[in-house]
Amino acid sequence: MCGITGYIGCRDAAPILIEGLRKLEYRGYDSAGLALLSKGRLNVCKKKGRVAVLADEVAKKPVSSHIGISHTRWATHGGVTDENAHPHVSSDGRFALVHNGIIENFEQMKNFLIEKGYTFSSQTDTEALVNLIAYHYDHRTDDTMENRFMEAVRKALMHVEGTYGIAVISPLHEVQMIAARKGSPLLIGIGKDERLVSSDVLGFAGRATNVIYLEDGQIASLTTDNCDIVTISNKPIDFVVNEIDWELENADLGGATHYMEKEIFEQPKALENAIRGRISDDESTAVLSGLNISPSELRQIDRILFCSCGTAWHACLVAEYLIEKYARIPVEVEYASEFRYRNAPLDKNTLVFVISQSGETIDTLEALRESKRKGYKTLAITNSVGSTIARESDGGLYQYAGKEVGVASTKAFTSQVVICLLIALYLGRLRDLSYAEGREIVEAIKSLPSLVEETLKQAPLIEKIAKKYAHYKDFLFLGRLSEYPIANEGALKLKEISYIHSEGYPAGEMKHGPIALVSPECPTLIFGNSGSALPKIISNAQEIKARKGPIIAVTDSPEAFEGVADDIIAIPHVHKSIRPIISTIPIQLFAYYVAVELGNDVDKPRNLAKAVTVE
Ligand code: G6P
Repeated sequence: MCGITGYIGCRDAAPILIEGLRKLEYRGYDSAGLALLSKGRLNVCKKKGRVAVLADEVAKKPVSSHIGISHTRWATHGGVTDENAHPHVSSDGRFALVHNGIIENFEQMKNFLIEKGYTFSSQTDTEALVNLIAYHYDHRTDDTMENRFMEAVRKALMHVEGTYGIAVISPLHEVQMIAARKGSPLLIGIGKDERLVSSDVLGFAGRATNVIYLEDGQIASLTTDNCDIVTISNKPIDFVVNEIDWELENADLGGATHYMEKEIFEQPKALENAIRGRISDDESTAVLSGLNISPSELRQIDRILFCSCGTAWHACLVAEYLIEKYARIPVEVEYASEFRYRNAPLDKNTLVFVISQSGETIDTLEALRESKRKGYKTLAITNSVGSTIARESDGGLYQYAGKEVGVASTKAFTSQVVICLLIALYLGRLRDLSYAEGREIVEAIKSLPSLVEETLKQAPLIEKIAKKYAHYKDFLFLGRLSEYPIANEGALKLKEISYIHSEGYPAGEMKHGPIALVSPECPTLIFGNSGSALPKIISNAQEIKARKGPIIAVTDSPEAFEGVADDIIAIPHVHKSIRPIISTIPIQLFAYYVAVELGNDVDKPRNLAKAVTVE
């Protein structure tokens, strides 16, 4: 979603800002823009389309500048046009602002400002805010010149209902930048004789060595070598400066064609990182110190609630299966966006988990806050060290999967699932899971990286199958038990990047509706692995075949599908606890190769954003 970068320092700002935007491209956007201050003048350039288009435009009229702001916009208010792209400039030309978030009361602000003579040239909510800053600048004549800019922004923000991450510059204050946040992430990067602002560490483009995570309701005033932070009610803040671990943030393509491809093949490593140090061989259990809850407290837990969005929500569904099976604790799974508003009754001994790769998804963050507000212990599983969700949770577990850039989540998903399995194992061993059963799961977890490696070897076959099916318009994904969430995840992956309509269903539900779709034009990918449900799944496949629906089977028992499935993807025979992870690999590869075959922009699929920071 919208990405912000800002720069103030002793180097040329434009190339640094453009590079920052390039690094933020993965978040998903539809237009880009930049504003530079030079010799008391504001130079603005904004274009719909890719950052490359903006970079070409900026190169046509180079401006030497040491301070600027830039933005990638994911349209909310107003269509995708040059005018609606950020930065927005106040109608008096004295302030330029980039914004991530939604200003809910912008209509009222706008009406007030129109009465005062301000004019508007875009359909955005943001333009109201930049003009309100200009208004307050003129109505705070008691402030000294030094703090007048900061005060104007602070006063304006006091009137905002909604969310924002903003960076503001003004030709009246050429050595100062103001940044603020409420509900949308904003980070301040510290480099040598330079300060940067970004929605994400990657936007610092490797320049900053340290980072300050702005908290909600904080406003920062930045100069080349300083940073002051106050609250919206003007109380000074003692902030914490953190070191950036660039190794974790590394996001080079390496030899891969797409990030998604790279990230699929990185899964053995990502899983290894998620597991490292978290297994006790001696006790056949998991070691999860990050949870910050004592074993005796955990034994009091009667119920667990998982909240998330998108792919992470599918990880929650797998968690439900694993925790209920191995720890025998009832689990509920909620969409974060529903949980926040539906005021669901929760038992007093409920433990809440949120799962979020980015750690910034607004719905998940708000679900976490709602749960904490009600007094529930709320833990997070996230891949983003220092993210808002990581900072605000009562404890949790980092995934250490390495930066995920492809919009369609892959390695983040499987590492979330393995962490859920570790939690199931740990909780199970605190209750009735025997040493021997724990041992089996421990061994299965340890073997995961190599089993995933082995499964990835099916890539050439899956590529061939994907080419065969790429031009269908509808798809069904069916699975039972712990593979039902994987059927959902398969359907999501396919629709996200190939734009093919696809639906995931529990295989047993097929006859209650989805079977109406079955025809030679609607293929089904079905998971069918050894176990008591296999005969039922084979029957489901037969029913599809009888109606001439093409079938792809993902199975550890290929012989069972001979003569039934049109195509078979064999996966290793593994312990049930890790099967959802192994089954995920073929559906990721399938979706990837279909999208490649269709010539789609795999890493930046249309309309989607990597981190959804507005509701
Ligand atoms: C967006 C992304 C998905 C992701 C979801 C939740 O929709 O495109 O890939 O699963 O957000 O993101 P999170 O960062 O909270 O896991």
